[in-house]
Amino acid sequence: MITRILLMTCISIGLCADEGWKTYQKDTLKMQSKLPGWCTQEKAAKMMDLIYEIKPTVCVEIGVFGGSSLIPTARALKYLKQGKVYAIDPWARLECLEGYSDQDPNYEWWSQINLEQIYQDFRTALYRLRLNPYCVVMRMTGEKALENFTDGSIDILHIDGNHTEDVALRDAQMYLPKMKKGGYIWFDDANWSSTRKAWEFLSLNCTKDEEHSTNEYFLFVVR
Ligand SMILES: C[S@@+](CC[C@H](N)C(=O)[O-])C[C@H]1O[C@@H](n2cnc3c(N)ncnc32)[C@H](O)[C@@H]1O
Repeated sequence: MITRILLMTCISIGLCADEGWKTYQKDTLKMQSKLPGWCTQEKAAKMMDLIYEIKPTVCVEIGVFGGSSLIPTARALKYLKQGKVYAIDPWARLECLEGYSDQDPNYEWWSQINLEQIYQDFRTALYRLRLNPYCVVMRMTGEKALENFTDGSIDILHIDGNHTEDVALRDAQMYLPKMKKGGYIWFDDANWSSTRKAWEFLSLNCTKDEEHSTNEYFLFVVR
């Protein structure tokens, strides 16, 4: 009888915890939809669920912009009361233009956007949502940030920085040794021809999680 009561209590606590998570996630996605950026609600939900499932210590995002993928990540860590996400982005025109010819539409787009304002608004969002304890902002390129991570230390990486062939490949090559075995890499904009070399490199060195990948982004598991 006592065993049965204990079991029922555990099940109901488990269910309550799950319900709490679903509500928290829904609230997060509602606010996420108002942030500048490109992360869909569907992808943000998957990113949050992965964090909820594996309870990471170290998450890294290369390419943050207004935080549409970073804020859901930090909110998931806050829910768990553990871990940090390293928000790497120079928020600077020169780095955004690297590798683009001045004929490329991306060149014009990145030339016109006010990255300083995007950065300031992102910092304000972190402050208002009380996410600073879960986020380390590194205003620099992925290349410059690299030395701050020891080999085999990252649980989850999101590669979403400069999408030119050379920079995307460099980010993938530089950061793979920093990943834990069994860690996860989200790779965004896999449908751009310029990111192909980078995701092909990851495909050779990791296992693609087909269930959580789409045409637009891939999820890799590090071997
Ligand atoms: C596509 S946006 C990121 C979008 C964001 N993850 C989202 O889901 O909305 C690309 C970002 O990469 C940043 N960036 C450009 N070059 C970079 C580099 N070398 N290292 C890190 N970030 C870079 C840009 O400043 C820009 O904010």
